[in-house]
Amino acid sequence: MTKLHADLERFNPVTVIGAGTIGLSWATLFLAHGLTVRLYDPRSDLQEVVDQHFQSIGSTLDLLGLPSTGFMEKLNLTSNLQFAVEGTSFIQENGPEKLELKQQLFAEIETYIGPHALLMSSSSTLPASEISAKMKNKSRMLIGHPFNPPLVMPLVEVVPGSFTSQEAIKDAMAFYVALGKAPQLIQKEVFGFVANRLQFAMLREAMYLVDEGVVAMEDVDEIVKDSIGLRWAAAGPMLGMHLGGGQGGMEAFMRHLGPTMEKSWAAQGDLMLNEETIQRLAQKSRDSYGASSIDELAKTRDQKQMAILKTRN
Ligand SMILES: NC(=O)c1ccc[n+]([C@@H]2O[C@H](COP(=O)([O-])OP(=O)(O)OC[C@H]3O[C@@H](n4cnc5c(N)ncnc54)[C@H](O)[C@@H]3O)[C@@H](O)[C@H]2O)c1
Repeated sequence: MTKLHADLERFNPVTVIGAGTIGLSWATLFLAHGLTVRLYDPRSDLQEVVDQHFQSIGSTLDLLGLPSTGFMEKLNLTSNLQFAVEGTSFIQENGPEKLELKQQLFAEIETYIGPHALLMSSSSTLPASEISAKMKNKSRMLIGHPFNPPLVMPLVEVVPGSFTSQEAIKDAMAFYVALGKAPQLIQKEVFGFVANRLQFAMLREAMYLVDEGVVAMEDVDEIVKDSIGLRWAAAGPMLGMHLGGGQGGMEAFMRHLGPTMEKSWAAQGDLMLNEETIQRLAQKSRDSYGASSIDELAKTRDQKQMAILKTRN
C-alpha cells in the first residue's frame, strides 16, 4: 500500500454532510478514490438529487481520469445524523452557510464520534473558532474550504483554529493531498479566508462596472479570461506584480505604478447587494447566459477547466 493510499484508507469510511453543490462534488471525489461514503442530508428528495447528479458527472470523471462506476455499492444515503457519523473518522460538512446551524450540527456530531475523527467544514467564510463554539473538544475541528467544484479544482484552504491540534492539521493536509488536491494551510483565521477575499474584492468591482453600464456582463468574462485569468493561472498575482516591475521587481512596480494603483483603488465602486441591484444584475445575467441551462454551462466550464489543468501539470 502506498503512503497516499494509506493516508486515505485510515479514514475510510468517510461522511459527507449536506448533499448540495459542494457536498455532492466531495462525495464524488471520495467515491472515485475508492472510499465508502455516508451522505447525510435532511432533504426529502435526497435519492432523486443524488441520482440526477451521478447521471451527469460521468464525463467529468472520465476527463479527470478517475473511475466513474461502482459508486452505488459504496454510497449510503441517510437522513439520520447519528448513523451518518458513528464509526467514520473523516467528516466533511457542507450544510448551508449559517453559523447557528453549523454550530448545532458540530455540537451534535461530536456526541457520536470517536476521539480520532477529523471534523472538517467546507464553510466559505466562517472560521472554525466560531463554528466550533458549542463543542467540548475542538482539537480535531478545522476548515477544509474547497473551490467549487471540489472534484475538479485543486485548492483546499485548510484553516485551523487556535485550538486545532498539530496532528489534526497534518492529517487533514495528508488526506487532501492523497485525494490529488492542493491544500494550502492558512496561517491565521480571518472571515472569508484568502481565496474568497481576493475573489470577492474583484467581483465587487466587476459587478459595479456592469451595473454602471461601463461594460457588458459577458464582456467582463472575456476581458478576464484573456488577461488577468491567463496570467494568474501561470504566475499568480504576487509573482505577476514582481515580474511587472522588470529587473527592479516588485519594488520597481510599486514605485512606478503605485500612485496609479492607489488612484484606481480610490475610484472603485462601493456597490452593495440591495434588492434593486440584485434584480438588475440578475436580469443582465439572464440576458447574457439564459440561452443555456446551468448544467450545460457548468459542463463546458468543467471541460475547459480540466483542459487548462492538464496543460499546467
Ligand atoms: N457553492 C460554492 O461555490 C461553495 C464553494 C466552497 C464552499 N462552499 C460552502 O459549502 C457549504 C455548502 O454550500 P453549497 O453551495 O453546497 O450549498 P447548497 O445549498 O447547494 O447545499 C446545502 C445542502 O445542505 C442541506 N442541509 C440543509 N439543512 C441541513 C442540515 N441541518 N444539516 C445538513 N445539511 C443540511 C440542504 O438540503 C442542501 O442539500 C457552505 O458552507 C458553503 O459556504 C460553497
